[in-house]
Formats: sequence, C-alpha cells, structure tokens
Amino acid sequence: MEKLIQKEDGSQELFDEEKIREKIKELGNNISSDYKDKNPILIGVLKGSVMFMADLLKEITIPCNMDFMAVSSYGNSTETSGIVRILKDLDSNIEGKDILIVEDIVDTGVTLAYLLKYLKARKANSIEIVALLNKPARRTSNLDVKYIGFEVPDGFIVGYGIDYAEKYRNLPFIGIL
Ligand code: IMP
Ligand code: MG
Repeated sequence: MEKLIQKEDGSQELFDEEKIREKIKELGNNISSDYKDKNPILIGVLKGSVMFMADLLKEITIPCNMDFMAVSSYGNSTETSGIVRILKDLDSNIEGKDILIVEDIVDTGVTLAYLLKYLKARKANSIEIVALLNKPARRTSNLDVKYIGFEVPDGFIVGYGIDYAEKYRNLPFIGIL
C-alpha cells in the first residue's frame, strides 16, 4: 500500500493524481490493443465512474462510443441488498456490439453481476468490465473483471468521482475515510 498522507478533511490519500493518470494510461493502452478493429461501446455506471470514464477515453486510441447507465440497489445505503433497479437505461442498441462496462469500484460485485445479466440478455457480442478500483474483501458475487486499476483495502473509499453521501466526488485524488 502507498504511503498514506493525512489530508485536512480527515481522509487519507491512497493514490494521487499522478498515480491515477499513469494507471489509466496503462489501462487505455491495453484496451486499445485488445479492441483494435472492434469499435467498443464503453458503458459508464453513473455517477461514480464519470471522472474515470473521461480520463480513460482520452487514453483510448481506437474508435469507440460512450453510453451511460444509472442503477441503484434497494435497501440501506451501506449494504447492497442484491436487488438492483435501473434508473437510466442505455441510449444505444448493443446487439452484436463489444461492450466494456466502466465502473468506479467493485465491492460485493452484486451491482455488476446484475448488470452483466441484464446486458447479456441484449445479445451483445462480448461484455467485459474495467474497474478503476477493486475491493475484494467483501466480494459475494463471482465476477470476472478483465481490467483492474488498483486493489484497495476494506474501508470506505472516496474521491475521483467516488462519494460518501454525495460528498468528496470532486477530490482529484483517491482516499480512504
Ligand atoms: P457492489 O455492488 O457492492 O460491488 O458495489 C457497487 C457500488 O457501490 C459501487 O459501484 C460504488 O458506487 C459503491 N461502493 C462500493 N464500495 C464503495 C466505497 O468504498 N466507497 C464509495 N462507494 C462504494
Ligand atoms: Mg458505482
């Protein structure tokens, strides 16, 4: 784990802007070569993936498209209930397309397992996941995440688009509360 830096708002920094930029460049390179000639559709899961999506797109050097979905899980806010509700569906038809789901953080995996099932029913040619952060400690759904930025410990992560009660999304770095 990186050296932790105490920030004024009480969060501790895990990954600074430079580290995030380098990692996303690496992910973009891998995706660009894996999806050469495929014109993938990147589907961002709102809202946490917004910053990641924007920076990742800039590192992808092949033609690609962007779409978004918004989901929420029933139940209280700290524990995923396993029932996922679609708040915003795709704009595009994904039949026969190569899909890359862009997610901020994979925790239990319940949200992505549901999304995978949901999107598979739409007959995409392929569906893979790119997640900036992976928190394997609390995983309950078996998931194959093809591209992972960083592994994070079992704590509450914020910043770079990721929130705690809608706060901290604007932090340019990733921290832990
Ligand atoms: P999962 O279904 O448990 O994998 O979690 C799905 C969503 O919960 C993620 O896409 C995040 O939006 C949110 N989430 C999970 N862990 C954290 C965290 O540590 N900080 C902020 N949001 C989180
Ligand atoms: Mg999310």
